[in-house]
Amino acid sequence: MIDLAHCRTLDARDPLRAVRDRFARPAEDTVYLDGNSIGAMPADAASRVERVMLEGWRDARRRGWNRFDWLEKPWRMGEGLAHIVGAGKGDVLFCDNTTINLYKILGYAWQLDRTRPVIVTEAHNFPTDTYVAEGLARFAGGAAAVRRIDRPHELDAALSGDVGVLYLSYVDYRTSRRWNMAAVNELARARGVLTLWDCSHAAGAIPVDLEGTGADFAVGCGYKYLCGGPGAPAWLYVHPRHQDRAWPVIAGWMGHADVFAFAPTYEPLRGVRRHQTGTPGILANEAMSAAIDIWRDVRREDLAWKHRSLSEVLIALLEQECGKFGVRVTSPLDYDEQGGHVGFSHPGAGSVCEALLEHGVVSSFRKPDVIRFGISPVAISHEDVWVAVSRLRQVLETEIWREPRFAKVSV
Ligand SMILES: Cc1ncc(COP(=O)(O)O)c(C=O)c1O
Repeated sequence: MIDLAHCRTLDARDPLRAVRDRFARPAEDTVYLDGNSIGAMPADAASRVERVMLEGWRDARRRGWNRFDWLEKPWRMGEGLAHIVGAGKGDVLFCDNTTINLYKILGYAWQLDRTRPVIVTEAHNFPTDTYVAEGLARFAGGAAAVRRIDRPHELDAALSGDVGVLYLSYVDYRTSRRWNMAAVNELARARGVLTLWDCSHAAGAIPVDLEGTGADFAVGCGYKYLCGGPGAPAWLYVHPRHQDRAWPVIAGWMGHADVFAFAPTYEPLRGVRRHQTGTPGILANEAMSAAIDIWRDVRREDLAWKHRSLSEVLIALLEQECGKFGVRVTSPLDYDEQGGHVGFSHPGAGSVCEALLEHGVVSSFRKPDVIRFGISPVAISHEDVWVAVSRLRQVLETEIWREPRFAKVSV
């Protein structure tokens, strides 16, 4: 039996307690469980962005490139994130958005061995992931093909000798099921296949160990659990063994070996930085940097403890408090198979999600009947989880969710 006192005891031992205070409290008193959509705002993000606007834009303008570290920022942010995703310091870069980075890195990986034209991905991957693969195959005009697997057990058979790249989401955005990254990388390596992981629903929530598990490539977004703000730049990772093997898919001037030489022909920068394309979003980078400065102080093992602890408490509470009202946990119960969020079903899920909003709990709904509680270990406490489940119980017990005003479900 879990009670509020137990949650408070866990919070007292939380190694990330002080980190929570580095995020701003929203104006409304809500329990925010949607870190899988847009994460919390670092407390100093607004003042930092304002400073860049005033001192960088109003005052310095072009001179800002020299006066501040605008050119280096995409790279410095990568260094700050690297330990959270198990990457070497020089192997991560922030740039563009997730979709663009997926296309760039999928294309880069695919071209490394044209005798293996097939890209294997999941039929139910996040739509942009699948579209990017389809788009690349079309662009390659028949030189590339996409093979989709429906279920994890089909992976082995799908990795035949014609496969060049295995392209998966580490965590499924609906079910929160996580792949065994180490085992998949090992299987792929044994078959001569490169791996590209979309870590959007993992980085900043669960431990990710790209280098330790032998991943070849990875991409992830900045605005979810990494708390970089709406429209934050995304990140990409290239294992050092692949960094200097080919030109990037978009050979842009910011990825040139000598950016301000304005050379007439392209020569790629060494390493992962060649995947920079053009001018970065300086304002968005500043907000992202505010979050990265927090991540620099987070130990991966503390993140791992906290996410696991929050997840286990949440799952136990959902069953204990709400099981009798029709709540069923749909995400994996074995923690090693779970991703960033916990999902549960209820026949009235859409309306329940709306009613929860009115009760000060922000979550998200996915058709047909699943509610997702995103667990951001840097921003929420065990007590928050207790409060959220108590409010859920209230919504279900009183059946207030059946009221007509909750029938219209927002996205
Ligand atoms: C797994 C995954 N990949 C990619 C994206 C979208 O990427 P972006 O809109 O940043 O290009 C999302 C968005 O939620 C996602 O969940």
